[in-house]
Amino acid sequence: MTNRTFAIIKPDAVKNNYSGNIIDHILKFNFKILAARLTHMTLAQAEGFYGIHKGKPFFEELTNFMSSGPCWVLALEKENAVEEWRKTIGATNPADADEGTIRKMYATSLGENAVHGSDSNENSAIEIGFFFSDAELIACQ
Ligand code: CMP
Repeated sequence: MTNRTFAIIKPDAVKNNYSGNIIDHILKFNFKILAARLTHMTLAQAEGFYGIHKGKPFFEELTNFMSSGPCWVLALEKENAVEEWRKTIGATNPADADEGTIRKMYATSLGENAVHGSDSNENSAIEIGFFFSDAELIACQ
């Protein structure tokens, strides 16, 4: 699992029609897409997925936003995938993101920051498992 990460193209980016550009960016940066699905999370699903942030001041805003519209969930593969994807998407707050990163190009605010990326190998396995079974990951078939 160390070469896998989990990504979300969040509701703001889907609504703004950036899905195609972001998937193009994923492929240009040589991530292999092992699984992808368009989904509209329920509030309960968003609360479960972001359970690690429960109790933080932004939890309610975050889970309301993540359940406000469709998003793409993706399992990605590349050497050092977690670190590489975090480099590709840039800082959590787009105001701090480097030029050329996905958040710099497509995000508008800290709360609506276009994409998600796992922060560790341990969490990438948990997050991929939250949305996909092993049988749905093409490398496992
Ligand atoms: P993400 O990488 O999806 O992980 C948690 C999300 O919480 C983060 O991106 C931000 O979109 C959102 N968030 C909102 N407010 C904050 C905050 N003050 N600090 C960190 N994350 C925040």
